[in-house]
Amino acid sequence: MTIDKVVIPVAGLGTRLLPATKSQPKEMLPIGRKPIVQYVVEEMIAQGLRKFLFITGRNKRSIEDHFDRDPELVNRLAEAGDQDALDEIPYEQEGVEFFYTRQSIPAGRSAPAGLGAAVGLAEEFVGREPFVVALGDTIIRSGNHAGLVKRMIAAHVKHNAACTIAVFEVEPDQVSRYGIVAPRGRIGSEFDARDVVEKPAAADAPSRFAIAARYVLHPDIFDAIRVTPPGVHGEVWLTDAIRILIKQGRTVRCVRLKPDEVRYDIGNPESYFQAFVDFALADRRYGYLIRQYIQKRLREI
Ligand code: UTP
Repeated sequence: MTIDKVVIPVAGLGTRLLPATKSQPKEMLPIGRKPIVQYVVEEMIAQGLRKFLFITGRNKRSIEDHFDRDPELVNRLAEAGDQDALDEIPYEQEGVEFFYTRQSIPAGRSAPAGLGAAVGLAEEFVGREPFVVALGDTIIRSGNHAGLVKRMIAAHVKHNAACTIAVFEVEPDQVSRYGIVAPRGRIGSEFDARDVVEKPAAADAPSRFAIAARYVLHPDIFDAIRVTPPGVHGEVWLTDAIRILIKQGRTVRCVRLKPDEVRYDIGNPESYFQAFVDFALADRRYGYLIRQYIQKRLREI
């Protein structure tokens, strides 16, 4: 079975990053040299995924512009022999296709209806094969970009899972920010989920394993989304739809991030600043200078 489709939800309002997100998508904010969502697309291309569906929304048109083919730019860079710049736009290649659909804000609400509702819009694109969901505001940085989703796809196929989730351990005071998994059985680099809960209070959290913004899903998720009632904040949560699959006795497999796989969820100013600093420090050309600059500034304050 070849899994080559990925759904990237980018329809959220990015309220926590206002005013930067007032008229531009959170997913287009730069981290180092690139917009956040370009890292996500490059990660997916590195795992062999070729067909992208963005779930867009209000003020998200610049994402379509960014991934639109630009043969003039490519020719200009090629003629100038600027391989470095060409390497920065690896999505401009044959066989990679981008599609878009829009998640409108439902009548009576001031925000889109949630991640589950966003994924639900991908049904026609997906058809009957399993597919990947990668959140457009979360970068997974690793020494080996091809690793995580490939491991997830392998686990998904091997265990005939309905859903496979990437997970990582968070501090107890962080569990209320994430979807949290209750493990079943022995916990190794992979395990089955007994339950999943969205944003539990620290006292109610069944573990410290948080969902890390990457999923492999069987298309049966669409039936589950259809019957998922709105949950926290009145949103239809993907976590609640996955919970329905577990209740139906389906296998939900969890794959842990490796120690060198770091998740950057660019949801609030603190995580945005942290991600920017890390990527600036790792920049192949300017990282060394930025390190010197930060060291100098820290000595001064
Ligand atoms: P978040 O809940 O972190 O993003 O969704 P948000 O809603 O934009 O943020 P705040 O709370 O207003 O600050 C994670 C990802 O899912 C997408 C978002 O665009 C983001 O990339 N999303 C979220 C949707 O596509 N649709 C939704 O209804 C909600």
